[in-house]
Amino acid sequence: MGDYPVAEDVGDILFSEKEIADRVVEMGAVIAAEVGVDPKGRPPLLVGVLKGSVIFVADLVRAITAPIELDFLAVSSYGQATQSSGAVKILKDLDHDIAGRNVILVEDIIDSGLTLRFLCKHLLAQQPASLKTCAMLVREGVREPDLTIDYVGFRIPPAFVIGYGLDVAQRYRNLRYIATYRSRE
Ligand code: PRP
Repeated sequence: MGDYPVAEDVGDILFSEKEIADRVVEMGAVIAAEVGVDPKGRPPLLVGVLKGSVIFVADLVRAITAPIELDFLAVSSYGQATQSSGAVKILKDLDHDIAGRNVILVEDIIDSGLTLRFLCKHLLAQQPASLKTCAMLVREGVREPDLTIDYVGFRIPPAFVIGYGLDVAQRYRNLRYIATYRSRE
């Protein structure tokens, strides 16, 4: 599973490094097959949401064996809390003009769905040719009923999870696996 000196904080391993890698390869193949160039011949633009998605994005773009461009958004975070505050604010917007582009929005995890709903509205207002959504993890009980998530890595129960980009107070993002967080509070 890989050594990391925080064993006391790591609960159950939900997905191993190998399981994640295999799933990302599958997702990349599906995305490459389904999302192509736009009417002007430009490749899709994959948009990662900082910071949690960076690990997944780095693996996913390499699993997409077709031309692709990359951009990032940063949104307000939950800080050190382990619950969604519901408030979303854009801290860093896109560098690209996405009008007429095929855009793939990539998240590490969808919890309440509020961030994704907000970002879809923000991106659709810029009139992309298409917008697809992708998340490594979707937590059961997403509260946004009309939310479409086109590409899902794994669905998980409501436990708080760490690793593969997911943090608690900025730690654990570099775990190679995804595990539940064992709070000592
Ligand atoms: C996480 C995740 C999503 C959001 C999902 O980000 O990356 O952006 O929360 O939650 P929601 O579905 O309830 O809106 P976080 O605020 O933890 O920031 P980070 O990506 O920097 O870790």
